[in-house]
Amino acid sequence: MNQSLRLGVNIDHVATVRNARGGVHPDPVRAALAAMQAGADGITAHLREDRRHIRDADMDRLKAEVPLPLNFEMAATDEMVAIALRVKPHAVCLVPERREEVTTEGGLDVAGRQSVLKPIVARLADAGIRVSMFIAADARQLEASAAIGAAVIELHTGAYCEHHGSERAAELQRITAAARLSGKLGLECHAGHGLSYDNVGAIAAIPDVRELNIGHFLIGEAIFVGLEGAIRAMRRRMDEARSSS
Ligand code: PXP
Repeated sequence: MNQSLRLGVNIDHVATVRNARGGVHPDPVRAALAAMQAGADGITAHLREDRRHIRDADMDRLKAEVPLPLNFEMAATDEMVAIALRVKPHAVCLVPERREEVTTEGGLDVAGRQSVLKPIVARLADAGIRVSMFIAADARQLEASAAIGAAVIELHTGAYCEHHGSERAAELQRITAAARLSGKLGLECHAGHGLSYDNVGAIAAIPDVRELNIGHFLIGEAIFVGLEGAIRAMRRRMDEARSSS
């Protein structure tokens, strides 16, 4: 029997559209509530250093007004740790962040930054927050994540989504092997970045993957079919792939 697969909906780009005009519409909290109605299991939001989409007040409102687990994506900085300790989300996902990037471009180098990351993981975990590492599907990064006390890893699916043919197949193999290793290391395995209707099936079918975090595609598709329709259609694809795996 397959374990269930959760869907976390990333609402960053609702805030991107809102910020384009500087007002309050569309409201990311309203989007999170609509996502809940459509069957999302959690809400993900990334508070970037430059506040280009989600803002501090959005995080406070998401925590206060949305009764779903909140997954707070952030860079491993003192500023963000202080905000997370104030907001107290269900989970924090530590991501690498560079100001000039359009989106999160690669995985976090946990293996190379263990001494910096370990005390951050401990502070967040002591506050009752589940800590996840957004990493490439690389055994060294998984082992380092387990060694510094992370509860969860999120595998970066960006390269799998961008590539086609044999390169995509090789990336899928790496993700599948990493997901299998996560269980042996006692880490819960999530995955995300770049997922769409067309590419979600193979990732959803990996039995060790317990949660997918999906944003950009769903918010874009919502323009055509509405947010609830987009989420329900994604959910259907995930469930179909899961049950036939
Ligand atoms: N997971 C993480 C850690 C991310 O940084 C992002 C992008 O913010 C996503 C998932 C979702 O990626 P996408 O918006 O491409 O679906």
